[in-house]
Amino acid sequence: MSTLDTTSLKLPKENLEAEDFLPLLGTDYIELYVGNAKQAAHYYMAAWGFQPVAYAGLETGLKDRVSYVVQQDKIRLMLTSPLRPGGEINKHIDSHGDGVKSIALWVDDATKSYEETVKRGAESYHAPIQKEDKEGAVVLSGIHTYGETVHIFVERKNYKGVFMPGFRPWNPHYRPSDVGLKYVDHMVGNVGWNEMNKWCEFYAKVMGFAQLVSFDDKDISTEYTALMSKVMSNGNGRIKFPINEPADGRKKSQIEEYIEFYNGAGVQHMALATDNIIETVAALRDRGVEFLTVPSSYYEDLLDRVGEIDEDLLPLKELGILVDRDDEGYLLQIFTKPILDRPTMFIEIIQRKGAKSFGKGNFKALFEAIEREQESRGTL
Ligand SMILES: [Fe+2]
Repeated sequence: MSTLDTTSLKLPKENLEAEDFLPLLGTDYIELYVGNAKQAAHYYMAAWGFQPVAYAGLETGLKDRVSYVVQQDKIRLMLTSPLRPGGEINKHIDSHGDGVKSIALWVDDATKSYEETVKRGAESYHAPIQKEDKEGAVVLSGIHTYGETVHIFVERKNYKGVFMPGFRPWNPHYRPSDVGLKYVDHMVGNVGWNEMNKWCEFYAKVMGFAQLVSFDDKDISTEYTALMSKVMSNGNGRIKFPINEPADGRKKSQIEEYIEFYNGAGVQHMALATDNIIETVAALRDRGVEFLTVPSSYYEDLLDRVGEIDEDLLPLKELGILVDRDDEGYLLQIFTKPILDRPTMFIEIIQRKGAKSFGKGNFKALFEAIEREQESRGTL
């Protein structure tokens, strides 16, 4: 299936073999539990250029919840709100605020994915269920991961509809233009003190992932704060999950701030890929998305640090886009401010030009920018 060169991801051979028990085709959708799905859907369309796709609610026979599905190229978001008091979704929102509940993974066989991962120690979220309508059938199963986050396995090879049974096509008049976002590059989890290795082992043992890279507190620290991170990847490299934990610093790290306001472990950011970061970020900024900024000194010796790049320096500097290089190429990236009122989740925009890494060279500048924001919130 994969046309990606897996050897360049430097996965150990045993993990390429272990991947046989859980072949992942890609990210199917990301579900967020939110307080007001109708308005959240409007935000992701108006500010982020997502297109309306599907809807489920009272009109489709649901009694207790409503979900809107929006999509941009391969990135699909599901926004879900409760319709009545009590219940699991309200509890999730009360505890965490708006946040990612499910990272759904596209598979060929949701039953086998469930059986193989549960056999290897995953905690079941729900056993395989088949949902049908006149467009065909979808099989869903689910396992727990860090915090209250879950992975849903989605088997849709026998389905022709716009999303899945239970949803109807959603065709509002409002259809803003997209901003050039293409696919989910990686999804990052923040976990508590001393929990990073536990969850990396979970992805290795239960899901057959391999560790791509590891950053310790010497790589990721400023004068004040620190964190540690390891990046886990599946065999074909389409699914990458960095896992962060706090590390001791003189002040409170951004991971501690996240854990405090999210009330536990959860998704810190999703990184969305574009083929033209300058156009994408300019469009997002025009639509009201707020990004972290770095001091203009970052750009003074940028080309000395990263070498020749195709882009003009001026728009990068004007928009605050960061650049980093590894031995395979370079990447451009930028991070939003938290997209919610709680200082929890944010979004990264990334354009890869050969580089398969995560912007290590930008960590210091980035974390100093985050500290300035923390300072203004009184949470540093
Ligand atoms: Fe990232």
